[in-house]
This record gives sequence, structure tokens and C-alpha cells, in this order.
Amino acid sequence: MKHFTNVRDIGDLHAALQEAFDIKKDRFRYHELGKNKTLMMVFFNSSLRTRLSTQKAAMNLGMNVIVLDVNQGAWKLETERGVVMDGDKSEHLLEAIPVMGCYCDLIGVRSFASFESREYDYNETVLSQFMKYSGRPVFSMEAATRHPLQSFADLITIEEHKKTPRPKVVLTWAPHPKALPQAVPNSFAEWMNAADYDFVITHPEGYELAPEFVGNARVEYDQRKAFEGADFIYAKNWAAYAEPNYGKVIHRDRAWTVDAEKMALTNDAYFMHCLPVRRNMIVTDEVIESPRSLVIPEAANREISAQVVIKRLLESLP
Ligand code: CP
Repeated sequence: MKHFTNVRDIGDLHAALQEAFDIKKDRFRYHELGKNKTLMMVFFNSSLRTRLSTQKAAMNLGMNVIVLDVNQGAWKLETERGVVMDGDKSEHLLEAIPVMGCYCDLIGVRSFASFESREYDYNETVLSQFMKYSGRPVFSMEAATRHPLQSFADLITIEEHKKTPRPKVVLTWAPHPKALPQAVPNSFAEWMNAADYDFVITHPEGYELAPEFVGNARVEYDQRKAFEGADFIYAKNWAAYAEPNYGKVIHRDRAWTVDAEKMALTNDAYFMHCLPVRRNMIVTDEVIESPRSLVIPEAANREISAQVVIKRLLESLP
């Protein structure tokens, strides 16, 4: 694996899952693989789970880890070429990226959608520059359009809990006070389509995801109907994708909050969310605290998904 930015990079899902379950049984088995190798984790945005789980995964593989918070202590970075840099940005990514590449063997990057331009975000402008100019294998720790380490962890979690080979999985929009990127729902949809589950996406009109991510999913605008017979409910907020509302909150309808009454429509479904979650906006206390909530196992599996990816990138180094 040269880089890891989407589901295609992981190849055969069955093989990836088997590798994940093997690593989960003995996460220190490959401790020699990363000896004297350095992972650099570059954060343009905040994180709790990704930072901790990815660092832990690299340490399990015997790696050294450097963490750079771009917005705390580093020079402010310009990302667009051709800009006259007479403002507050002291360094350009085009120098900063190859410099970072000098100090490490692998690079993980977190760079969210800016919501300034759909084209800029959906071209993955920042992540692409890291792949082009660092000279190192790069993996996404959530980029503008996808969060593949999260989706891989979600897939592992579903496989561990499903009772039927092809469960009904429902991705539901839920309200949130701020505009959030589409990276998690896009990526979740991409991985659920690749897994060939019975996959349904439900959201209010106006929150349609990009068609390339919806893929073969059924879109249902009636949330209650979508929940009927579901085995897994995956809640997430996202801002509008369609122009002219790209990146905007078009409503915050609290009627879409996941509650116990809606969960009762399902096939005793598990509740999932990537975290962090706004309680009693996205989901009620009762549902997230219920025995059917998988939010902690999902977070725990972030260490495993990261370890599979970093292991494969290490194995591909020359
Ligand atoms: N789910 C997730 O990526 O969490 P963080 O934003 O805390 O890393």
C-alpha cells in the first residue's frame, strides 16, 4: 500500500478484516517492524481519538512518533500556490511538506474541509500536496471528504456484532448547532457500499451527499421508515453538499435526534457514532448509555484500524 486515503487503498475487505482480527488477538506481534522508523502525525484540526489511537498503533509496531499541531506553535501555513504572502501566513506548504518528509518515514495528515470552496475541498487540496511533495507514504487521519480510519474501525465493529451476513445498516443525519464536514458520512457510505450490506441513508431534504458516495445505498427521507428493521443505526450530522448551500446548516430539526422511541422501530439495533457527539442533539442520553450503544467499542477499534494501515505502509517501504 503506497498511501491510504480511501476504501480502495485497503484492497480486499475480507483480508483486511482478517488482519484486523489477528492484530487484535496479539497487537505486539509486529513490534520489530517499526523499529527505528518514525511516524509524523500532522494535525491541522483538533482530535482526541485519532491522535491517541494512531499514536498507540504506531507504538505497538515499535515506531517513534512526532506530533505536529500546525495551529499551535508552528508557522501559519499558506496552502494555495500563487498567493502573495503579505498576510499572517509565514510559510508555504510547498516548503513545509518536503521539510516534514525529511524527518520521518510515514506521514499521517488531518485536514478538514474548509467550506470556503467545494472544489477546493473535494479536490483534497491539502492531502494531495502531502502525497505529491513529502516523498513519503501518506495516510489520512480525516481529510476534507473522507475519514477512512474511522470507517474501517466502524466496519470492524459491525463485523464483530452482526447476527446476519448482510445486516441492515442505516446512516442517519441528526441535528447539530454547527456546520460539520461530510467526511465521516461520505466515508462510512463508501465502506458500507464496499461491504455490500443492506445500506440505507436517511436525512432531511437538502442534505443529499455527493452521488459518488451514495453509490448503491437507498435514500429514504422518512427517518422512521428507514429505522424499521435496522440492525445498526449510525448517526452523524453533516452540512449541505449541494450548491448553493455547500457547507451550510439549512436546518437543525430536533425531530431528527435519535431517541429510544425511534430505536424501538428497529430490529433491536445497535447505536453507533464516531464521537465526539453532542448529547441530546444527535442522540439522547438514554440511547448512548444503553447496552446497545457501540460508541466505545468503535473508538477502541480505531487503534486496530490504524495498526493494520500503518503495518501495511511499513511493509511497503523500500
Ligand atoms: N472520531 C474521531 O476521529 O475522533 P477525533 O476527532 O477525536 O479524532
